[in-house]
Amino acid sequence: MIVGVLREGGKENRVALLPENISTLVKKKITVLIESDAGTSSCASNEEYVNAGAAIQTKEYILKESDLVLKINPPEEDEIPAGKVLVAILNPLSNTDLIKKLADSGVTSFSLDMVPRSSRAQAVDILSSMATIAGYKAVLVAASKLPNFFPMFMSASGTIKPSKILVLGAGVAGLQALATARKLGAVVEVFDVRPAVKEEVMSLGGKFIEVEGAKDDASAGGYAIEQTEEYKAKQQQLIHEHAVKSNVVICTAQIPGRKAPLLIPKETVDEMQPGSVIIDMAAGSGGNCELTKKDETILYKQVRIIGNSNFPSKLPADASKMLGTNYINFLNLMIDEEGNLDMNFEDDIIKSTCMTRNNEIVNEKVLEIINMESE
Ligand code: NAI
Repeated sequence: MIVGVLREGGKENRVALLPENISTLVKKKITVLIESDAGTSSCASNEEYVNAGAAIQTKEYILKESDLVLKINPPEEDEIPAGKVLVAILNPLSNTDLIKKLADSGVTSFSLDMVPRSSRAQAVDILSSMATIAGYKAVLVAASKLPNFFPMFMSASGTIKPSKILVLGAGVAGLQALATARKLGAVVEVFDVRPAVKEEVMSLGGKFIEVEGAKDDASAGGYAIEQTEEYKAKQQQLIHEHAVKSNVVICTAQIPGRKAPLLIPKETVDEMQPGSVIIDMAAGSGGNCELTKKDETILYKQVRIIGNSNFPSKLPADASKMLGTNYINFLNLMIDEEGNLDMNFEDDIIKSTCMTRNNEIVNEKVLEIINMESE
């Protein structure tokens, strides 16, 4: 079998496999093809891939010869491996046109952002590994843009108060942001609609902001569910009160497959302190702040609003290291010891990540969205 790794385009610095991942595949007698310079931005040279047992090739050759193609971001038109297997992060719920194209091209496609959040799936959970990186990097970016210290300082030149950080959403990214900001000495407050996260927040040294009356649904698999209008109004008021007293707001609130909830309206930004920083990690799904522009930084009344939707690409070596492990663990579920494809579509991880197969879209959530779009 031949596995091919394509180079990512645009501003993406990560790569799906690093040289250190190649030996696992080579041991199974799999031929690994890497597009030239695919790893350069992640500090992995062509030579290192060759030394690890891979061959350097062009994109065209890889697409023609590989049985299975690995990518991170959704493929462009000229990167679709017709009739082959594709493993990538397709963001399928907002990318239904691409999913239709993959089905039409006979691609058996798997989207790693659709991995279920179960204990067994943790080893392939790219959303968690990338959110960990993003939460960390978001805080470092905030610290570098803020005109204040994060920690408290007591010196002969006076006492400097610690910065106040407000984190919205205490999922993987939010908890990592909390941990990182605490390590830098800031005072951190956290808000989430799921009361279940209160203990985790407190154990990491954060203060949990509570709004009475949240609906928490255990059947939602650890994700948030839609809240009542009364709850949303109370929540809005409380977030406003805390945001205007904060130096930094890190936005990570999301409900999977939905537009990000609006938690910081323009009126709140109007009252924030000059020099404050908002890092809107939910920029990719519309943002938690009304003024966020995806992949742009704007200055509004001396408040900096950063809408970077790909922080993991700013830490490419370790992001690729974590991704490489996730990809290899995923491939191990579908490749047998002799290096042949052996896909068990009853396996819950394979099933929930498979988007297209036999020229058809097979994922129920994607089909639901396509049906709604055509109504
Ligand atoms: P997650 O699903 O683990 O956490 C989201 C949290 O938001 C949950 O705890 C949920 O209860 C909470 N939440 C939902 N609605 C809320 C509301 N109205 N108010 C307060 N909290 C609310 O997601 P994860 O993995 O932590 O990712 C968070 C966000 O960061 C997502 O939007 C994701 O797409 C984004 N992300 C951004 C990256 C970047 O580079 N900008 C990289 C990785 C993730």
